[in-house]
Amino acid sequence: MATPDGIAGVFDRAADTYDEVGVPWFRPIAAGLAELLAVRPGERVLDIGCGRGALLEPLADAAGPTGRVLGIDLAPRMAHHAAEDFRHLPQVEVRVADASAPGLPRSSFDVVGSSLVLFFLPDPAAALAAWTGLLVDGGRLGVTTFGPQDERWREIDAIFTPHLPQRLLDARTSGQRGPFASDDGVERLLGDAGLTDVRTAHRTVEAAFRDAEHLVEFSWSHGQRVMWESVPEHEHPALRQRMLDMARGFGDASGGFSFTQQVRYTLGRRP
Ligand SMILES: C[S@@+](CC[C@H](N)C(=O)[O-])C[C@H]1O[C@@H](n2cnc3c(N)ncnc32)[C@H](O)[C@@H]1O
Repeated sequence: MATPDGIAGVFDRAADTYDEVGVPWFRPIAAGLAELLAVRPGERVLDIGCGRGALLEPLADAAGPTGRVLGIDLAPRMAHHAAEDFRHLPQVEVRVADASAPGLPRSSFDVVGSSLVLFFLPDPAAALAAWTGLLVDGGRLGVTTFGPQDERWREIDAIFTPHLPQRLLDARTSGQRGPFASDDGVERLLGDAGLTDVRTAHRTVEAAFRDAEHLVEFSWSHGQRVMWESVPEHEHPALRQRMLDMARGFGDASGGFSFTQQVRYTLGRRP
């Protein structure tokens, strides 16, 4: 299958190293969402933008062999890795599909979860309305987005800012504007999609790096890759050097450092 365009194409190219560079990040974030969604054995669960399965795994554990957990992702290579990794769990299925138009039957899931995906979609409100329609009455939905982050991480990201097209600045996960800039903004999105009992929980996660090179490696392995790909290749060495110099300033005696990030969990229920 051809590589998709846009952000899903970026994730397709990142897929081989995504969540594999030794920085516990997507799994701890997703584990928090799985806990809050409290899936019960036998439930039918949908993970939208499942990536390599950070959320699929705890959902599948909770749903158990009598449940059914479907993961969808637009990046075929992400879906391929997830399908391979969960081949041993008969309750898990992974498909290539678009979160904006999943093409699934209405009222067919007890739980819909989506970790770090909504802000990448062209029309998050329309997507959420579609996701709500997939839930049975009383079904639960939960998404994760990013809250405030370590100031030093912002400084690193700012190296790329002058190079980024406006559409990417808007899509920035820790945006200063738009619905993803506040708890209220994301809660409103869920409420407008027809969900009730909408609420927010927070957790702080920590990304630990061995050294500055490790941060560079991590930055290529996930959504931040879009920043690299927005910069002409001949500028990469200079940008890399700036990133290394800045990150070296953060290191302790062994060169290691860590950044904190607040994660926002927004939950709701179909009436
Ligand atoms: C930051 S990753 C999160 C993956 C996974 N949920 C996790 O927590 O590790 C975002 C994922 O959204 C997927 N994605 C982006 N746009 C999508 C779309 N329109 N439909 C489905 N998946 C999409 C990407 O391919 C990528 O796997």
